Amino acid sequence: MKLLITGSRGQLGTELQRQARDEIVAADVEEVDITELDSVRSIIKKTAPDGIINCAAYTNVDKCETDRDAAFAVNALGARNLAIAASECCAKLIHISTDYVFDGSGSEPRREWDLPNPQSVYGYTKLTGEQYVRQFCPRSFIVRTAWLYGYVGTNFVKTILNAAKSGKPLKVVDDQRGNPTSAVDLTKHLLKLISTEEFGIYHCTNNGECSWYEFADRFLGLSGLKYTIEPCTTEEFPRPAKRPAYSSLDNMMLRLTIGDEMRSWQDAVAEYIEHYNRESGEFEL
Ligand SMILES: NC(=O)c1ccc[n+]([C@@H]2O[C@H](COP(=O)([O-])OP(=O)(O)OC[C@H]3O[C@@H](n4cnc5c(N)ncnc54)[C@H](OP(=O)(O)O)[C@@H]3O)[C@@H](O)[C@H]2O)c1
Repeated sequence: MKLLITGSRGQLGTELQRQARDEIVAADVEEVDITELDSVRSIIKKTAPDGIINCAAYTNVDKCETDRDAAFAVNALGARNLAIAASECCAKLIHISTDYVFDGSGSEPRREWDLPNPQSVYGYTKLTGEQYVRQFCPRSFIVRTAWLYGYVGTNFVKTILNAAKSGKPLKVVDDQRGNPTSAVDLTKHLLKLISTEEFGIYHCTNNGECSWYEFADRFLGLSGLKYTIEPCTTEEFPRPAKRPAYSSLDNMMLRLTIGDEMRSWQDAVAEYIEHYNRESGEFEL
């Protein structure tokens, strides 16, 4: 297969390039700005991919609240443009979405049949992107993931490790629960999915759930760093964008199609920290 990866310099895009054994066309915003339909059509026509994996997104959840047009342009119109162009050249499309399309109520993991109800601009723009993909590209997979961390780029794990290294006492939110997800494990499943015709909506997160505090305490404990950490509430740590309190996802569609081989979040983060320790705190591809 020939695969086009958009947003190729981000955490997920980089991991896809590392793992893919197919022919890859890697494109970030300099090669193709997904907000421009003509530019999207042109790269797809020129490269004629069999599959497209869209990793491009406006991922700064708080900034989305004030930069609404730009967030919508990337997360919704960008997805629409890729869906139109993929459909025109009969390529399959994987579009990555998020647990933030749900409102965070309830206490049971959300399944693919549950109705989204976003609570933030980021969530709304990602949900509209999903709807455009379904509308314009039948040969598509929408894959919702959560709390993603990869070797390249910024993420919660790196932020907390850096803060701990600087010796600061840490306070981490303990009343939001979800599924920390390794970009390594998500990538394995994306590459498997794109080779099938099992189109539809998927949840794909590492198995098991925890709070941000439990997550941080777990990986800091494995890191060998000296640290002090305390749980706090969302109220004590106000942010511009509302986060879902409970956004755990159930990988039902994976189980029923290609198989759910997502590890437990504990095993996945243990591997990440092993790598971190081996590289003395520096991550490089
Ligand atoms: N990170 C998470 O915790 C998380 C959780 C759930 C779902 N997701 C979803 O997972 C996917 C991958 O996330 P990630 O963490 O890998 O994101 P990321 O590291 O922020 O990477 C996104 C990439 O897209 C690029 N980009 C931005 N605007 C673009 C445009 N107009 N055209 C082309 N490329 C553009 C960015 O470039 P610049 O850096 O130059 O802007 C960046 O290289 C996204 O769909 C995201 O919504 C992420």
